[in-house]
Amino acid sequence: MTGYVIAMDGPGGSGKTTIARSTAMQLDLPHLDTGAYYRAATVAVRRAGIDPEDSGSVALLIEGIDLQYDQGRMMLDGDDVSAEIRSDATTLAVSAVSAIAPVRSRLVALQRNWVTEHGGSAVVEGRDIGTVVFPDASLKLFITARPEVRAMRRAGEVAGDQDLIRQDLARRDTIDSSRSVAPLQRAEDAVEIDTSDLSIDEVISQVLNLVNRET
Ligand code: DC
Repeated sequence: MTGYVIAMDGPGGSGKTTIARSTAMQLDLPHLDTGAYYRAATVAVRRAGIDPEDSGSVALLIEGIDLQYDQGRMMLDGDDVSAEIRSDATTLAVSAVSAIAPVRSRLVALQRNWVTEHGGSAVVEGRDIGTVVFPDASLKLFITARPEVRAMRRAGEVAGDQDLIRQDLARRDTIDSSRSVAPLQRAEDAVEIDTSDLSIDEVISQVLNLVNRET
């Protein structure tokens, strides 16, 4: 049974994760970061020594892995991979793995189950939540920010050259937005929030206003 689901989609560096986490805390709802699933699948692919572009082998492998997401931590076959899913090597390969259709259908099923097991209501963030995972979500938000702002935010999160970070974000945006299955796109009925010139508190208060209007 689906209860009150807030779907938050948007590109990397838009502030989506911070906003989703804070909104969930304020509303006392569980928070699901679906990017962690695609990242953990990528860790599994790397550990198995499979080429991320070899879609047949990747799909077969992902069919058999066990993923458990709990309190922001991700377990892959019983192993805590919460740090490894954020590594540069994982980030580099994740778009290729997440473009594979059978990988997406397995991970989408796990994500829907997670929400059901947590009572049916949640703040769920990703790229295809309002379009594919929860098309009937109670509230859909599309969180964006200008590319240079996103690169600056990412530079604050991970060490490294800002130009390279900008290039990597642009590369992932292109792959994530142009793939044939579940590309990153704003759902028709989503409210778009550009966070470029807003503080986190300002964004959260906009989100809470929207929630109050819906309920
Ligand atoms: O949100 P993130 O940067 O942790 O996501 C990592 C990658 O996972 C991103 O490049 C695209 C993919 N992803 C996806 O395809 N669908 C989702 N619902 C979430 C993430």
